[in-house]
Amino acid sequence: MDLFDVYSIMDIEPVRGQGCCVYDKAGNEYLDLYGGHAVISIGHSHPTYIKRITEQLQRLAFYSNSVQIPLQNELAERLGRLSGYDDYHLFLCNSGAEANENAIKLASFHNGRRKVLSFARSFHGRTHSAVTVTDNPGICAPVNNRDHVVFARLNDIEAVQSALEKGDISSVIIEGIQGLAGIYCPDPEFLQALQNLCDRTGTALILDEVQSGCGRSGKFFAHQYAGIRPDIITTAKGMGNGFPVAGVLISPRFEAHPGMLGTTFGGNHLACAASIAVLEVMEQEHLIENALATGNYLMAQLKSIPQIKEVRGRGLMIGLDFGTPAAPLRSKLIEKYRVFTGASSDKNVMRLLPALSLTKAQADAFLTALAEAMMNV
Ligand SMILES: Cc1ncc(COP(=O)(O)O)c(C=O)c1O
Repeated sequence: MDLFDVYSIMDIEPVRGQGCCVYDKAGNEYLDLYGGHAVISIGHSHPTYIKRITEQLQRLAFYSNSVQIPLQNELAERLGRLSGYDDYHLFLCNSGAEANENAIKLASFHNGRRKVLSFARSFHGRTHSAVTVTDNPGICAPVNNRDHVVFARLNDIEAVQSALEKGDISSVIIEGIQGLAGIYCPDPEFLQALQNLCDRTGTALILDEVQSGCGRSGKFFAHQYAGIRPDIITTAKGMGNGFPVAGVLISPRFEAHPGMLGTTFGGNHLACAASIAVLEVMEQEHLIENALATGNYLMAQLKSIPQIKEVRGRGLMIGLDFGTPAAPLRSKLIEKYRVFTGASSDKNVMRLLPALSLTKAQADAFLTALAEAMMNV
């Protein structure tokens, strides 16, 4: 059987990873400024991560959500404490799209409305509700009817206000930082006004922190730069450092009842062990602080490079807008300098999404490679 051919893939096969680097079969080292699409948070093959997952695997890999799984409570306790949301409730699932799917559904259960407001250039995943609120008709099939979705421009509070004041919008979904679009941060004042409008109109505010969460922005969640407390927050990617796991953080004003949401694999023993290891390492090694410091350093250096039109982002979620297609430079970086970087839906933007443990020396190594690659591209 052949694979269903849906991905554009590079001719590289990483077989091993350590920290912010991966290695191919020939033993070549690659500096990973892409983090496997913002997934690697504490670094590849961290010993604590390996130990926790291995020990759990030797005890019990899986049992369904019909039994006691204290690891889920331990994860919820740690996540609540580290994120500042210890009064929220946690629903565990398996992917970013699934987390958003459940968030949108929960909001609709809660207020009985069916419309959703989303933003231009957004990406929220590929399952039904998630893809309908994604600003890309090209990945919606005819079955993904979008007549319940309204799109507004990011930071356009008047547009949001006129839509919300009709009183029929169930939820507003917004990325903490727009990732795939090419790293666009919502203005803090916009997020504050958005929260007020949502509160006033009985609309649930959903913060999609799938890419920008788990410390990547230099705060646990990117929306915390605006000091807001959304009704629902979704998280995935960095949460499991590569183990598929996602979470929906739910304000205490939402009431749960048995059967309301559910999933077979969500919150399984291995996923919990992986996520607990991530939070433990993040705390012990001060990785959120490191993401902020190293990110600030890297962005300051990048801003002094004249060929880069704009540097956007927070922490270690950085977009470099070259004003011309970034693909040739990305190819040069991977082929000649063995540096992974990320693309974006804007062909002029390169994304940097490394592990939060990136050191200043590694940032410097990237800057040197980038400077040389720019001269030779
Ligand atoms: C902001 C955001 N939301 C949702 C998703 C979907 O996550 P997943 O691919 O785990 O379903 C992504 C994935 O890139 C994302 O960046």
